[in-house]
Amino acid sequence: MIKSMSVALEKNRGKDLWATLQKMSLRDKIGQLRQVDGSGGRSDASLLEAIRHGRVGSVINVVDPDLVNELQEIALHESPAGVPLVFARDVIHGFKTIFPIPLGQAATWDTDLAREAAHLAALEAYAVGIRWTFAPMIDVSRDPRWGRIAESFGEDPLLNALFGRAMIDGFQGNDLSAEGSIAACAKHFVGYGDSEAGIDYGSTNVSEFELRNVHLEPFRAAVAAGVASVMSSLSDVDGIPATAHRDLIRGVLRDEWGFAGLVVSDWDSVKQLSVHGITSDDKESAYQAAEARIDVEMTSDTYENHLADLVSSGQIGIEAVDSMAMSVLKFKKNLGLFDRPYTPKNYKSGISEAEIKDCARRQASESFILLKNSDSVLPLNQKKLSSICLVGPMADQDREQLGTWVFDGDPARSETPLKAFQDLLQPDCEVLFEKGLATTRSSCAELADFAVEKAQHADAVVAIIGEEAILSGEAHCRANIDLPGEQVELIRRLKATGKTIIVVILSGRPLTIGDLLPHADAVLFALHPGTMTGPAICDLLFGHKAPSGKLPFTLPKSVGQVPIYYSKKNGGRPATHDSIMSIDDIPAGAEQTSFGMTAFHLDDGFEPLFPFGFGLSYTEFTYSDLHILSNELSRGGELHVSVCVRNTGLQDAFEVVQLYTRDRVGSVTRPVKELKAFNRVLVRSGEAQTMRFSLSREDLSFYRRCREYGVEAGEFDLWVGGSSQADLHVTFEIDA
Ligand code: NOJ
Repeated sequence: MIKSMSVALEKNRGKDLWATLQKMSLRDKIGQLRQVDGSGGRSDASLLEAIRHGRVGSVINVVDPDLVNELQEIALHESPAGVPLVFARDVIHGFKTIFPIPLGQAATWDTDLAREAAHLAALEAYAVGIRWTFAPMIDVSRDPRWGRIAESFGEDPLLNALFGRAMIDGFQGNDLSAEGSIAACAKHFVGYGDSEAGIDYGSTNVSEFELRNVHLEPFRAAVAAGVASVMSSLSDVDGIPATAHRDLIRGVLRDEWGFAGLVVSDWDSVKQLSVHGITSDDKESAYQAAEARIDVEMTSDTYENHLADLVSSGQIGIEAVDSMAMSVLKFKKNLGLFDRPYTPKNYKSGISEAEIKDCARRQASESFILLKNSDSVLPLNQKKLSSICLVGPMADQDREQLGTWVFDGDPARSETPLKAFQDLLQPDCEVLFEKGLATTRSSCAELADFAVEKAQHADAVVAIIGEEAILSGEAHCRANIDLPGEQVELIRRLKATGKTIIVVILSGRPLTIGDLLPHADAVLFALHPGTMTGPAICDLLFGHKAPSGKLPFTLPKSVGQVPIYYSKKNGGRPATHDSIMSIDDIPAGAEQTSFGMTAFHLDDGFEPLFPFGFGLSYTEFTYSDLHILSNELSRGGELHVSVCVRNTGLQDAFEVVQLYTRDRVGSVTRPVKELKAFNRVLVRSGEAQTMRFSLSREDLSFYRRCREYGVEAGEFDLWVGGSSQADLHVTFEIDA
């Protein structure tokens, strides 16, 4: 029996809702717990009938505002309880105007801009009647094979927490009931990003401490930020599917963290409990999901078919159904749906498409990470170019540059690199274009010959390559994370012309690009940057802005290094440069010994291709004068540090200043480095900025061996710099 503790509280908080609930029949209440797929539209007679009979509480995938209003009309005036519907849609990184995929947004390290982008996406979605998005996805993701790494903010818990919070604020605004606000959903609770072999929907076997200190942390932050809903994961967590995980949903999320919002299952994930083999049929699945306190079942119908029986047989108490239905009613009330259920006709947010595109362009240009720039070939001097050759299967692909999960994204709004080059450079500079490969997955053939031929006639060659959008995202995982097709071969052939080769990679995930690097003079890496990809590339290539993106993940040398992330544990035998050997150093017939051995791969060492937090600029930054200004941590106060960042180059530029710590000894083993703070700052050429950071005890707390959160006394290291390999270092202590 589910004993709901919260119904009494809800009674007092929202008397009108309680009165509404009391008037509802059990069938009406169960209807509120059901979310149906509305993509069949008006012709789906069963959808209209179900709404008419009060068997639906929310609808996913209707984006026609007239249909939204028609369905709302039926719910309000024909269904027994007259409760408004709420319309939901995946608004992941933009609606019509597409911003960089979330992984690209994380590469900006600019949470203010992510907040702004989410707000603008909410305005576009609101205009068609959407009031609930299933974003942000804050699954810590450390496996680039996993297609959904595209939707995450990368490998670090703090980045996921801060970007998650920014998006929640952007979607929800200060007042969820205000015009233009939509409810956010923190997903997927929890551990989904850690699926075995990077295969979507796979099992996740996360230890208790890893779950607490890594995967749950962004969700804790989302709850603190006031997220309106949380979605359970499709995967299992250490043997228990997340959708039936009572200890995590009722235990941690509700009771421990006090989450008072709505919990929704993922698509069919209640029904799939029996596929996992944790239940034997739909009835038991409904029982376990309700026991765990999943309020809304997305698309499958086990609640609809079995919850009433479970109540009449006494297996589920009516208080449980009341509590779940009350979550839905409160959610709708917070959205203002009882007062303003209809979508305003021709809603105008007051923000023009041009303004939204401007934000998309700023975010896109901040998201590019400069990985290589030999002899400062970038930025290109526009005035000195009389011709430029644009090559590559991603150079003029209005849809592919948008990235994954953009159901409503309008490719017609896209400005491709080719268009942007033509707009910016012609007629003073001739823009030659040849695809080189039909798609990112193609082999070199005639098209490559044409590209090589054209490249020979240009002053500079810019190759735009990467992954098509469909190669990442949900259920689109790869076992091999090399650049697909013969793109590296195309670049090799272009380089053989002797021309300067600038490579721009547009991808949905981290890729292994070690074999590409020698053939490129410069490499700019981006995660599908969206509608304004072309202008953003021009902003950077021609030096109107300096690249400032930093990797939100560790870029591996090979897929065999995966998972590789900077905040690893030391182990008992950590590798050092002196302790490793290459596979080629081992003499034939050598005998096995473990003496003096450390943790590394014989064929790839222990270091990545590029570390987390890395990204070059067109200028140089030097760090100095790292000082602890005061340390009040032992007395419950804060630690204050300052550092000087100097721009020693010729161009004004933004730098992402990063602060990492290490807790040297803990009751459970602690990561060798943890990102604790960062700040994106403009430093003008020749000038210096003094940056200050403060850390609280909370910032240094973790889930300890005693199963409580807290900070432990002892010595800490602290580094500040421009990547996770920051070497400016001080130590500090916290007394017992
Ligand atoms: C399944 C995905 O896992 C989830 O993230 C998404 O929100 C739903 N489908 C709805 O499209």
